[in-house]
Amino acid sequence: MVKKSSGMRIGILTAGGDCPGINAAIRGVGKTAIVKYGMEVIGISDGFTGLINKDCRELTEKDLSGILTVGGTILGTSREKPFKSDGKKKSEISKPDLIREHYEQMGLDCLVCIGGNGTLKTAYLLAQEGLNVVGIPKTIDNDVWGTDKTFGFDSAVNIATEAIDRLHSTANSHKRIMLIELMGHNAGWIALYSGIASGGDVILIPEIPYKEEKIAEYLLHRVEENKPYSIVVVAEGIKNPGKERSVAHYLSDRIFEMTGLETRETVLGYLQRGGTPSPMDRVLATRYGTAAADMIAKRDFGNMVALKNNKIVSVPLADVSGKLKLVDPDNPLVTQARNMGTSFGN
Ligand code: F6P
Repeated sequence: MVKKSSGMRIGILTAGGDCPGINAAIRGVGKTAIVKYGMEVIGISDGFTGLINKDCRELTEKDLSGILTVGGTILGTSREKPFKSDGKKKSEISKPDLIREHYEQMGLDCLVCIGGNGTLKTAYLLAQEGLNVVGIPKTIDNDVWGTDKTFGFDSAVNIATEAIDRLHSTANSHKRIMLIELMGHNAGWIALYSGIASGGDVILIPEIPYKEEKIAEYLLHRVEENKPYSIVVVAEGIKNPGKERSVAHYLSDRIFEMTGLETRETVLGYLQRGGTPSPMDRVLATRYGTAAADMIAKRDFGNMVALKNNKIVSVPLADVSGKLKLVDPDNPLVTQARNMGTSFGN
């Protein structure tokens, strides 16, 4: 393929919590930029920290080979939020100013920010400061407003579903109540999808406030119906009166106190974010990456790639910034699960 040279030089960074599929997105945007448009691609290390410290390297097509299936991010990440006051004196140069200065010194024509809500907000603020920015939404939490799906979510749901599947047999053998706490931040997407996929009996998500008594009543009713065990899927973001303990530990103790039924708890944690992306996430991340390169070539800046009805679209970062996509309590999946007897603890 004869490369035409657009003469553009683009920077890519990944920020916030990692997730499966980030490298597939880096590969998608980088390869398309190099192969289709003849752009130069600069990889920036550790999110916005790399821009503050000017820590970067050129990425060749060869550097982008063999990373599609690799978990995490080859660029590294951080939770650096440059617009949060860093307590520096007025006389010292601020982080956003440093970023703008380094963006210019590095000769960048565009900055691709791959991240979740925090990253996309920072991307929007940098666009306000005059940088050419394109956003790519990623997070296992699936809570980015403006897109039907983020990559990372499908992999996390697969991992959580497999974990819950495995709890069923041990719960059955011991006739126990098994609680499993899943990630998702303030959204219940992972708990809802993996709870339904694995036949969870109770699914607790932040968007539907629960009552402890309702959960206890429901679990005792299952015992009366000769159902020897129950699975309770708990999103990490639900109300936690236990405070210092995980919410699954808190509820596990409360359920035992209220019902006398034997309980155990599992906090799945970072296993949900690690390892190779699912095929669906590889495809979605690749679609987002290639579409981002096309947006850059068209100088379609200040926007985020998004999925709408299975089509890739461009959404203004101004619309995305500061919003969250939460589960609607009337989501058809919730209603269908309720119709089959699943409890949401209310
Ligand atoms: O946003 C992704 C996520 O994994 C959330 O589900 C979780 O609450 C959070 O990140 C954990 O953050 P950290 O990596 O800072 O511990």
